[in-house]
Amino acid sequence: MTRTRICCIGAGYVGGPTMAMIADKCHDVDVTVVDINEEKIAAWQTEELPVFEPGLLEVVKARRGINLHFSTDIDGAIRNSEMIFVSVNTPTKTYGVGAGRAADLKYVEACARRIAAVAEGDKIVIEKSTLPVRTAGTIKRILEATDRGNRFQVVSNPEFLAEGTAMRDLESPDRVLIGGERTPEGDSAVDRVVDIYARWVPKDRILTTNLWSSELSKLTANAFLAQRISSINAISALCEATGADVDEVAHAIGTDSRIGPKFLKASVGFGGSCFQKDILNLVYLCEHFGLPEVASYWAQVVEMNDYQKRRFARRIVRSAFNTVSGKRIALLGYAFKKDTNDTRETAARYVAGDLLEEQANIAIYDPRVEPSKIMHELGVSQDSTQVSICADAYEACRDAHVVAVITEWDEFRDLDYRRIYEKMYKPAFLFDGRNILDLDAIRAIGFEAHGIGKPAPSVVSL
Ligand code: UDX
Ligand code: ADP
Repeated sequence: MTRTRICCIGAGYVGGPTMAMIADKCHDVDVTVVDINEEKIAAWQTEELPVFEPGLLEVVKARRGINLHFSTDIDGAIRNSEMIFVSVNTPTKTYGVGAGRAADLKYVEACARRIAAVAEGDKIVIEKSTLPVRTAGTIKRILEATDRGNRFQVVSNPEFLAEGTAMRDLESPDRVLIGGERTPEGDSAVDRVVDIYARWVPKDRILTTNLWSSELSKLTANAFLAQRISSINAISALCEATGADVDEVAHAIGTDSRIGPKFLKASVGFGGSCFQKDILNLVYLCEHFGLPEVASYWAQVVEMNDYQKRRFARRIVRSAFNTVSGKRIALLGYAFKKDTNDTRETAARYVAGDLLEEQANIAIYDPRVEPSKIMHELGVSQDSTQVSICADAYEACRDAHVVAVITEWDEFRDLDYRRIYEKMYKPAFLFDGRNILDLDAIRAIGFEAHGIGKPAPSVVSL
């Protein structure tokens, strides 16, 4: 039996886990993951993968060197593969037309040009990265502009995995979405991609659509999810003012089966590589197509998130007698959510930035994020006196005036808060940006404790 050969350009948070899952589920498929970043490719061959994701290392170790390969030979992988997944980054543009909103497609375009230049034979090119609607058309034009006698089909197969639960999401997805051109060649390309997923995903969960629906569905799914978070975060501000408890409100509305309970956790603000970027991209598309009302509707989701992050930092400053200058503030967690080492658009960065502007000294502990990455993102040198990265939570909290939980890592629930309290300046302030702690118990220790959408005891009493 002939083996299917696929490759994936981009060995990041999406490409790496997705390809590991395909290799694990399809032993007759040879999977090569390539990247221009040599360090990253080298790390994929070790025990310290560049992506931390529960369950990923086990799968990679089981398939690596058998039917899962990591390489920097991009041209070789393109030549050898019938199907090429493109999973490169598509950050928000920081320059020129659409700066701050449109997706920067230069990496995707570079891949399309490379494929066109080196392909020998027909290829199916699969968009895995989240892309603006109609990007498939751009890719196809680039592929076809280099007339070397090869035929290309472009298929959209957006990935819906969430970081921290990627392996579970890949193993048992709510759905797999595959969009293609509605032509006989397009249908057959879609069928080839369906065949891969059908090895482990029930057929009724594999949805096929036209190209544009697939591209737009990914942006829309992320916009809806982020909108729920911004909605509950908006209500959290009102809860603090009125004496309502946001978790009680979320539970009460979430039991309505039309609303449902998920993605109603109020927080210091959503982060991650997708939500903000995809909404801004949606906003840009709406403006481009002459739909300013639709654009401003979605833009508000991001504005509310900015407000929530700023509001958190402001509440800290306000409670600490309106000045944090020279005071140590411990930030517990830096990743944008638990169980990942990813920091893209993490609320921690904005909160830390605002507090640094107020001249606070920041002590950060995160169980998975590299200290050098944090220092780099905060724009401070390794020997900074204003920011220190600590080896554990107790060290970060020692001599602090304020402790703020930024990421909901499980270990932060189980800390000995009495021990933390004893080593802090008094009054000792605690801000739970994830509502993971029992504030009554924390207050009983002596802390002045605040949550998100959790009113102070004085507001609750009639
Ligand atoms: C998201 C989508 O969930 C996923 O389908 C898509 O493929 C990529 O973007 P991800 O960003 O990895 O995934 O994580 P997600 O679990 O969605 O969390 C995003 C952010 O929202 C995190 O900062 C998280 O802490 C925050 N969040 C999530 C909340 O603040 N409240 C919630 O109720 C849920
Ligand atoms: P995502 O979360 O979408 O997976 P990442 O940034 O984690 O995004 O991964 C994208 C990867 O794509 C990076 O490792 C980057 O080096 C790689 N990449 C970007 N452009 C190219 C390119 N032209 N060829 C190969 N790899 C690329």
